[in-house]
Amino acid sequence: MNARVLVLTGAGVSAESGIPTFRGKDGYWRNLNPAKLATPEAFANDPRLVWEWYRERRQRIRNAQPNPAHKAIAKLAQHAQEFLLVTQNVDDLHARAGSSKEKMVQIHGDIFVTRCSRCDFSRREHPPSFNYGVAGPPSQGYGVAGEREEEEVDLPRCPRCEGLMRPGVVWFGEQLPWSELQRVENYLEDGPCDFVIIVGTTATFGYIIDWALRAKASDGELVEVNPEETPLSQFATQRVRERAALALPRMIDELVARGNFL
Ligand code: OAD
Repeated sequence: MNARVLVLTGAGVSAESGIPTFRGKDGYWRNLNPAKLATPEAFANDPRLVWEWYRERRQRIRNAQPNPAHKAIAKLAQHAQEFLLVTQNVDDLHARAGSSKEKMVQIHGDIFVTRCSRCDFSRREHPPSFNYGVAGPPSQGYGVAGEREEEEVDLPRCPRCEGLMRPGVVWFGEQLPWSELQRVENYLEDGPCDFVIIVGTTATFGYIIDWALRAKASDGELVEVNPEETPLSQFATQRVRERAALALPRMIDELVARGNFL
């Protein structure tokens, strides 16, 4: 079978790695105001506060490990004939579990990228000191030696234009990165998917719902893995009300064993 697969993930896939979600119990947006931390206006008003929050998050992610859900998705990518992972997560746990950047779109950016708020200069900060395991390091260009110190500078400035550097993530009110958006559109245009798997997202953003619905072939499966109901649940052909780290390895092992992807 020529299986074409789209996987869409959100914060729930990293929850079991100890990364807080946004809207869930103990989620960031339960206690913090996104308008003060994740908008261009917040950055203009108080860049120090915004940087402090992102540095804390970077550190938490560096200390975290991919969980069985990230690993199962990387395994599925290897077995599917055609595969794309679209993640809303800015962490690098999918990459560290072995998902290749060719088959992954980080639609809300990458928390380890630092970019200029004025010109197009950007760099990727040093990878965390983890053990890459079998997958090897992600192939993005990391910053050169010395930039780790740069990252710890209170308010980093652009080496090219002296503009304020900011985290390379998408904030509320900003456009999605054009090139990444194109990669998703191209994948959708290339044909319908036999399996669309949506994991750990409240599907708050219309484009997530739109991509999931557009991607599914008329006889395809739309599988939702989430302990809670979401706006996408009503369209799902299978609703798996379990934690991703439990459900995904089992589900993906079954799919691979059925030979759908060979
Ligand atoms: P949310 O925090 O909105 O949703 C997390 C979802 O994960 C919820 O539906 C939970 O039920 C589910 N969940 C929690 N634990 C889970 C587990 N162990 N296994 C499976 N599911 C679990 O996070 P997102 O939908 O990713 O945007 O949020 C989307 C965007 O809103 C984020 O990318 C971020 C945020 O504001 C930006 O920063 C632009």
